Amino acid sequence: MNAQGMMTAILFAILFVPEAPAQAGRPSDSKHPMPLFLDLFRSNQRPTTATTDITVNTAVGSMRGYLARQDTAERLPAILLIPGEEGLNDWMKDNARDLAGIGYAALALEPAPRNAGHARGKSDAAAFLADEPTLARLAAAVRWLRRRPDVFPDRIGVVGWSMGADQALALAATTPLQACAICDASVVTDSALFAGLRGTPLLGIFAGKSAAAGRLPNFEKALTEAQIAHRIRSYAGVSPGFMTPDQATPGPEAAGKGYFEIYEFFAKFVEDADIIADTRLSRSGPAHEPVAAIADIMRSVNQATGVHGDLLKSLQEEPADRPQWQRVRADAALIAEAAQLLEKHDPPKGKHEPWLEQCRAFALSAKAVVAAADRRDYPTALRSATALKARCAACHDRHR
Ligand code: HEC
Repeated sequence: MNAQGMMTAILFAILFVPEAPAQAGRPSDSKHPMPLFLDLFRSNQRPTTATTDITVNTAVGSMRGYLARQDTAERLPAILLIPGEEGLNDWMKDNARDLAGIGYAALALEPAPRNAGHARGKSDAAAFLADEPTLARLAAAVRWLRRRPDVFPDRIGVVGWSMGADQALALAATTPLQACAICDASVVTDSALFAGLRGTPLLGIFAGKSAAAGRLPNFEKALTEAQIAHRIRSYAGVSPGFMTPDQATPGPEAAGKGYFEIYEFFAKFVEDADIIADTRLSRSGPAHEPVAAIADIMRSVNQATGVHGDLLKSLQEEPADRPQWQRVRADAALIAEAAQLLEKHDPPKGKHEPWLEQCRAFALSAKAVVAAADRRDYPTALRSATALKARCAACHDRHR
């Protein structure tokens, strides 16, 4: 079928699809008006959803989870779901199955146990940033997804609710993810948090009748200043928890809208992660002319006396503690960023297309070092840093 035929078929299906049969116990069918495409999807009887109870082993103990995905061997983008106080209940499992229904591998986690790291009931994303056990558990879940052969390792998003949203934010600030959605989160404008979030698009869903609502304008302002791509939605007349199925009206309507935002957001930033990178760059501010020439980037970043040299030096031995790993991450991240800046230039020699490929391959190797630093994986960090070095000559041969 050609593209137009496909569009016609989809339009036809949207207009004339019979009502999906109600499924018992699925809150999204009766109480939540689900986006049309989801109903459409369900009624079409695509591949069935397979669900598994899984256990992730982490440095701080094991953790249970519920994995849902289409029952195929196809590689899929993935979403990590972090519940709030309600825990890994039926609603959270429904959320995972709904995401699986639209083509994700969805992993819902049981909540991290409360620990001494933060005061009970008074947690926010900034507090979780300092809560190493919780972060270690969540990062282990991301790694678990990333290592699966049926998941795209570079297309992973996270969504959290209430306390789980605070944890999702802290996770996104410390682990590279393609997108972070938070529902009923606490509003914080912590600079360390924001610095970590740069490059991760954020979707915030808030209840109009919440303490957070009044602070959203400041939150948005701070996000804009920190150049974090974001979309903030606040729904009038509803209280926190409005996305859970047991809320009275007008909860369900707002919940349906909230879900729609989340699906759209993930479709854009997780499913189409590659395509979006360019638009995201151009969205992050007024179009700016590059200040650094290719040679500037080479001298300050790539050359042995630059950031790249520092990176190799700090990897001569296994980094011993968190600050040393953070240093490795920072250097590698800057190299990756600089590689993306190179894309804006035309090479002095050779065509633009192969040049882009060289820039992207170089950025990918640098990002692999970033990811390895985040999980303190020395052998991989070293291997990726060496691969990075091998890319210099490859590009110079063609374009210098
Ligand atoms: C994507 C392509 C590409 C990659 C990858 C790349 N370079 Fe370059 N590099 C160039 C180009 C093009 C020039 C020439 C720039 C000019 O003269 O305007 C250059 C120039 C240089 C220069 C000379 C700068 C000067 O003073 O004029 C050095 C040094 C250098 N690169 C080091 C490196 C190292 C080290 C790496 C790997 C860590 C690296 N480059 C990776 C494209 C690349």
